[in-house]
Amino acid sequence: MTTASAPGKVYLFGEHAVVYGEPAVPCAIEKRATVTAEKRDDDHIRVEAADLSLNGFVVEYAGSTANRPDVDVPQPLLEAAMGYIDAAVQQARQAAGVPDAGFDITVESEIPLGAGLGSSAAVVVAGIDAATRALGEPLERTELAERAYRAEYDVQDGQASRADTFCSTMGGAVRVAGEDCTRLSTPTLPLVVGFDGGAGDTGKLVAGVRKLREQYSFAADTLEAIGDIVSTGEQLLADADPNAPPSDELIAELGDLMNINHGLLSALGVSSRSLDTMVWAAREAGAEGAKLTGAGGGGCIVALDQSDETETSLQYTPGCENTFRAALAEEGVRVEDV
Ligand code: PMV
Repeated sequence: MTTASAPGKVYLFGEHAVVYGEPAVPCAIEKRATVTAEKRDDDHIRVEAADLSLNGFVVEYAGSTANRPDVDVPQPLLEAAMGYIDAAVQQARQAAGVPDAGFDITVESEIPLGAGLGSSAAVVVAGIDAATRALGEPLERTELAERAYRAEYDVQDGQASRADTFCSTMGGAVRVAGEDCTRLSTPTLPLVVGFDGGAGDTGKLVAGVRKLREQYSFAADTLEAIGDIVSTGEQLLADADPNAPPSDELIAELGDLMNINHGLLSALGVSSRSLDTMVWAAREAGAEGAKLTGAGGGGCIVALDQSDETETSLQYTPGCENTFRAALAEEGVRVEDV
């Protein structure tokens, strides 16, 4: 039996534009998905999801997910959970050269589903790691990140960048542009997350942006402008001392960039009333910057604030269900003792 965990993430900048090869900078945060895999003697997959969003369900099936039985949980949640777990199992089987390996799998996650915090990437990364280790064939991190990307790509019908899966595998802050993925050294940033309790439909939101980009040259320019924001931001981070606390100037400039980034995402139609409300609550509380994180449509915002004001204000903001300070997860995927 092997247990692995992998972190979720927030986007400091660059979501959506990263789909078109522009750079993005996601940061891994200390909210993790934990997956336990135990090899079975048959080729069945039994999945037990014990986390908050899934309310605990158990499914057992053989072969592909097409053969799985109906169970009494909401279909979208089941699809979300099972699709990613199945894709992770397929990648693990392929990587280890054991196409009919069966597993008992348990998933526990602190990361809300579809809320822009990279829950699916964390489950896929931890799942492939736990399953390949259970087969005695652990993967190098680079291969693990690549296989996790392919798993997401398959489930999301090609609407996926490498950003979430690379960040979840490696931890820390990373830069992703197309196939070019690197880890960054950054000072510890004062990140605060606000969550509206909802979720966005990533596929639909990505498709909506794609349509605008095809229809209007200025929408394409907007995505390029997001890429420029990311380049400016990553330069600021590269010039900063990673071992010193971030200067007030750095936080102020990064905050400006986050604010502009949110405005451009909003122009592309991927914000929502609750996300905008939380963004403005954070700014009015004194956050240096605030933006939605991930696909949008609902879910989470991320703000930069060294004081406690943003968190306090979000606690009292109608429509904000949960808020927390997000510590950067320096460690990406890791084996957990059981
Ligand atoms: O909402 P999330 O955490 O799945 O992030 C989606 C980010 C996008 O840039 C919109 C899509 C992608 O795969 O990069």
